[in-house]
Amino acid sequence: MTMTTLKIGHGYDIHKFALPTENQDVQDVIDIGFDKNNKLFLQIKQNENSKPLYLGGILIENHCGTVAHSDGDVVLHSLTDALLGAAGLDDIGTLFPDNIESTKDISSVFMLQEAHRMIQNKGYCIINIDITVITQTPKIKAYKAQMTLAISNALKIQQSCINIKGKTKEGMDSVGRGEAIECFSVCLINKNNNKIIE
Ligand code: CDP
Ligand code: ZN
Repeated sequence: MTMTTLKIGHGYDIHKFALPTENQDVQDVIDIGFDKNNKLFLQIKQNENSKPLYLGGILIENHCGTVAHSDGDVVLHSLTDALLGAAGLDDIGTLFPDNIESTKDISSVFMLQEAHRMIQNKGYCIINIDITVITQTPKIKAYKAQMTLAISNALKIQQSCINIKGKTKEGMDSVGRGEAIECFSVCLINKNNNKIIE
């Protein structure tokens, strides 16, 4: 019998964009368009009171942030859960509850690094990561290189192990209307001393 020490993990997260509820000021709208299904979507500028938008460990300028207790980085949250899930550990919300003061505005890079430290303590290392961000705006393609670099720095793994891509929701549901952003991540890990038992 051939045994493998490879484990795969999956993570998902969704956050609302911090859109003003009513009477959107026209000056706050920086992009307006129709998607393939002729549905209207808006890209709303960050207002003074809202959080900045963090995605994949980088700051996205000129875009409203997400509603979150932490810094709201939906990409790193889903990736953190993929790492934890692969190693059979508790999920991000259990490790960093969103109803306590100590996790308010907590850095998602920090949470990712903590999860990485925990899987390393169990003897695992990352083989590769694949991330799909679903949102009408921003275009992920434009930030892919920066996000890859940020994740590679945070985890101290090669950039070639990390893949990131963007999709729209084709105008469907809350994500398609530009009200929310969601992200799926998968991660393959392996025991460091990769002994194959036959
Ligand atoms: O063409 P298809 O329906 O597969 O995908 P789409 O959602 O219309 O997006 C077209 C292309 O735009 C994607 O393949 C991505 O390369 C890019 N994209 C992106 O970079 N960031 C997004 N938020 C959405 C799409
Ligand atoms: Zn989250």
